[in-house]
Amino acid sequence: MSNPSQIEKMSLKDDQVNEEEEDIVNPWEVSTHSAKGVDYDKLIRKFGSTRIDHALIKRIENLTGRPVHHLLRRGIFFSQRDLEMILNVYEQKKPFYLYTGRGPSSEAMHMGHLIPFIFTKWLQDTFDVPLVIQLTDDEKFLWKDLTLEQTNHLAFENAKDIIACGFDVEKTFIFSDLDFLTNSPAFYRTICRIQKLVTYNQVKGIFGFTDSDSIGKISFPAVQAAPSFSCMFPEIFNGRSDIPCLIPCAIDQDPYFRMTRDVAPRMGCLKPALVHSTFFPALQGAQSKMSASDPNSSIFVTDTDQEIKDKINKYAFSGGGATVEEHKTKGGNCEVDVSYQYLTFFMEDDQRLEEIRMAYTSGELMTGSLKKELIDILQKMVGEHRQRREAVTDEIVRQFMKPRKLKYDYPAL
Ligand code: TRP
Repeated sequence: MSNPSQIEKMSLKDDQVNEEEEDIVNPWEVSTHSAKGVDYDKLIRKFGSTRIDHALIKRIENLTGRPVHHLLRRGIFFSQRDLEMILNVYEQKKPFYLYTGRGPSSEAMHMGHLIPFIFTKWLQDTFDVPLVIQLTDDEKFLWKDLTLEQTNHLAFENAKDIIACGFDVEKTFIFSDLDFLTNSPAFYRTICRIQKLVTYNQVKGIFGFTDSDSIGKISFPAVQAAPSFSCMFPEIFNGRSDIPCLIPCAIDQDPYFRMTRDVAPRMGCLKPALVHSTFFPALQGAQSKMSASDPNSSIFVTDTDQEIKDKINKYAFSGGGATVEEHKTKGGNCEVDVSYQYLTFFMEDDQRLEEIRMAYTSGELMTGSLKKELIDILQKMVGEHRQRREAVTDEIVRQFMKPRKLKYDYPAL
């Protein structure tokens, strides 16, 4: 390897060769032929990240003095880069910050979209650190058949659902790329410094761009990379460029941050650390795609109690037996059962979840009763979300989006 920038790189074209068997995972496409979903061990090897093991979880619990979030405990946030570095920083009582985001391509957000935000909220509460949230309305304009006005409006509406996850306005800055770029010199300067260090050949390799992709798409990765560097937010970090960043995201976003980590040392900046999650399955099963345009592929945060009940009963792929007799003798398969999978995301009580798993696997618990457990939890969660979302006024969104200093003090260097 002649140059250090080759280290964290892989070509997306390589995994498109064996389209029949290989999982495809990139920011624009996730697909697999297995009912159990993507092979995450293989993905970790291919991407070169590290699995979050029991020892690391124990270390987090020892450092923070509380049990970790169930999404971490159950291996839904399962992979990381440099998380130990962040824990060392925290142990030394030094600051770090969180960065996550969303591409606003539709008004309708589903429960899967909330997973990274639910987890980020837990990280913010547990470590008491500032958080920046990027809404990539520019990205969705470039990739989708939407106008700038539409994606910018969607960013504003999606911000309400994000805020409804419970973020603290004193510690959280939410920005739309289209809006923030026009009044932040540091944002565009950080983008330029990144752009200068990445060649067309490299983004072709990382993202699979071709000669017919617009130059907007080709240069966009620098926009998503920029918030990983604290120098992009001089108001928040008092001009310091040495505050480490931790990015919670679904693993399909990793290509952006492999590129970011590659350029960081050459910019004299720190590489951002990452925690990656698995994907939230569609109701029809882990190999079919969830889509915001198919209302039956997932549970949306706007669904009524009746819609939740009907969708789960009608569409949630079942790992149960075909008949009552078969189920009672052979038992259910939790590995492919979508209702069980959803419970692992949303049921907080470990003991109850384990009871359900055992009873379903043995055939004692029927699919209808399993679904009922999930319906109750989702109706409650979505109902509470709806109430919190209704309380988020335009004025509250504007407060979160106002460029400002957050609650934390950073002594100048
Ligand atoms: N590209 C992401 C999406 O389409 C949005 C995003 C921007 C993001 N910055 C991020 C996601 C940082 C996770 C972490 O959803």
